[in-house]
Amino acid sequence: MTTIDKSGEKHNLMTNDYFWPMKRYQDMHKRSIDDPEGFWAEQAGALAWDKPWDKVLDWKPPYGRWFTGGKLNACVQCVDRHAMSQKSSKVAIYWEGETGDTRTISYADLLHDVNRFAAVLKKLGVQKGDRVAIYLPMIPELVTAMLACARIGAIHCVIFSGFSAQAISDRVNDSNAKLIITASGGYRRGKILALKGIVDDAVAMCPSIEKVLVVKYTDHEPNINPDKDIWLSDVLNDSDNAVVAPESMDATDPLFILYTSGTTGKPKGILHGTAGYMLYASKTLQWAFNPSDDSIYWCTADAGWITGHSYLVYAPLALGLTSVIYEGAPDYPAIDRWWQIIEKYRVSIFYTSPTAIRMFMRNGEEWLAKHDLSSLQVMGSVGEAINPEAWRWYYKYIGYENCPIIDTWWQTETGGFMIAPCAGIQSYPLKPGSATLPMPGVDPVVLDADGNEAAPNKTGFIAIRKPWPGMLLDVYGNPDLYQKTYWSRFPGYYAPGDYSMKDADGYWWLLGRADEVIKVSGHRISTAELEHAVVGHSAVAEAAAAAKPDEVKGEAIVLFVILRNDHVGSVELQKEIIKYMRTAIGTVATPDDVIFVDKLPKTRSGKIMRRVLKAVAAGTSIGDITTLDDQTSVEEVMVAYEELKVAAAKSNNG
Ligand code: PRX
Repeated sequence: MTTIDKSGEKHNLMTNDYFWPMKRYQDMHKRSIDDPEGFWAEQAGALAWDKPWDKVLDWKPPYGRWFTGGKLNACVQCVDRHAMSQKSSKVAIYWEGETGDTRTISYADLLHDVNRFAAVLKKLGVQKGDRVAIYLPMIPELVTAMLACARIGAIHCVIFSGFSAQAISDRVNDSNAKLIITASGGYRRGKILALKGIVDDAVAMCPSIEKVLVVKYTDHEPNINPDKDIWLSDVLNDSDNAVVAPESMDATDPLFILYTSGTTGKPKGILHGTAGYMLYASKTLQWAFNPSDDSIYWCTADAGWITGHSYLVYAPLALGLTSVIYEGAPDYPAIDRWWQIIEKYRVSIFYTSPTAIRMFMRNGEEWLAKHDLSSLQVMGSVGEAINPEAWRWYYKYIGYENCPIIDTWWQTETGGFMIAPCAGIQSYPLKPGSATLPMPGVDPVVLDADGNEAAPNKTGFIAIRKPWPGMLLDVYGNPDLYQKTYWSRFPGYYAPGDYSMKDADGYWWLLGRADEVIKVSGHRISTAELEHAVVGHSAVAEAAAAAKPDEVKGEAIVLFVILRNDHVGSVELQKEIIKYMRTAIGTVATPDDVIFVDKLPKTRSGKIMRRVLKAVAAGTSIGDITTLDDQTSVEEVMVAYEELKVAAAKSNNG
């Protein structure tokens, strides 16, 4: 593993020969932990404030409120201050549509677009504090809509455009949004996704929605209900040169709600604030990826997920960077579409997921050989642990052994990176598969099941000892769930719900979820949510979900299903249930296997033995069962395991 520095000398990115001592990082990290208020007060000069804060941190566990008394607007950070400076003609976004359409948007253009959009929202009666749902494909209007909400102080709630009508309505009803913004459709692998039709089905279940604002994008004609639906193009014309003064928000006012899966059957609305979130997202991007004014930055995430919120929209724009946004599938029309884009725009910072890397690995290096990727300088990874093999492939074939890989461990709830290498503070040796060291301001610890600090190299639960500016404000409308989910497992600590290990060098290894959350292509979905959805199918009496390892997706979903008396298992029914799950939740919930069984492995108290399900789904042995905390006897577990194995084999053969 070598890299070439500016003098042309070759170095090894995974040993100390290239790196200066870690001192600069260590000093900065130590200061951020010893004096967080002083540290973050210094950093906060990076934002444009309407009024300075009174207090850096108001910490009343489990609530951390940052920069109380301060006033600012998130849209101003991202747009106005660049558009009003020498940067006004700088490209903010190079947008590339799946069909090959392109748009180049400068910071001045973005200000114009955001003002017009904000004027439309105001005209439709959206006020500060109102919730606005956004269900759009990856077109520039998605970014504009988010920023326009931020500008007027409305709370956006972006819903990934792969979600079903039911999933949309769950989120809209929980957030009580009054407006939903969608498009006639979007493109995916050459096909049109009829998004407006899906929204129509959702809105029929959403009493709070007063209006549907529709972006005309694909050619097909959706149904239009004149009482509710409004074409954006019709109302934008009226607001051509509108200027909407940005709302001066409290530092702790909410900026957005983003739903994510937990261990319950219902996704929870993660609520993020204004100043702390904006500062944390932009500082962590700067520290980890070390962008410069002429960087071309590309984060491949969809804006429907937290990576898209923080590192496609808010942080790169707050830093005044030039970003690439691509609408479509990575393998359309061919598997080298992404490499074409990197070559075309001379992308220098590239941030993607292990799932994507593994998909490209599978397709071979010959696709890469056709393109010049030498513009790349730094590459990132997110969503799940990157396995060392994928890490090495990414490093060698995409980065030409010349780019550090910034493996970023974080969550929807954390707002920004928590553990990641900091190319912008100090280069230090990387270890393939490790997210390396905590970001400044982050104070993690590995705890054992009793809450004692684990020894080096011992696996335990990661916990965070101190509040950090990007931390969630709350679970929207459910403070009890906030307390219970994140702060009760280890009182006084934030519990992310991941297993982890710290090695003897102090490097962090994140080892996957410790709860009932499955990670499919880096997307979170809970077993409870899957189970809740599948019993909605008329043939299903009871079900349990489990994960099995998948070479590309990381984990895949397996459903164990007990049918109602009047139904028999068949291949057709398996297919029907798979299809049903896509309509009940969305593409992320597509099971790989549906296994018909007569009974589910349960403890005497009726709890599903998840370890048994997991072992059967993965085709592995039951392993060490002595630590089962449900008091079930080893014999009972073994019997349940054998029975389920036999049933699964029967179902697969039938
Ligand atoms: O299990 C961890 C895993 O993804 C979870 C957070 O998922 P989500 O909120 O959807 O956010 C994904 C994008 C930040 C974490 O609890 N995870 C995310 N990144 C990594 C990771 N696990 C290991 N290494 C990572 N780099």
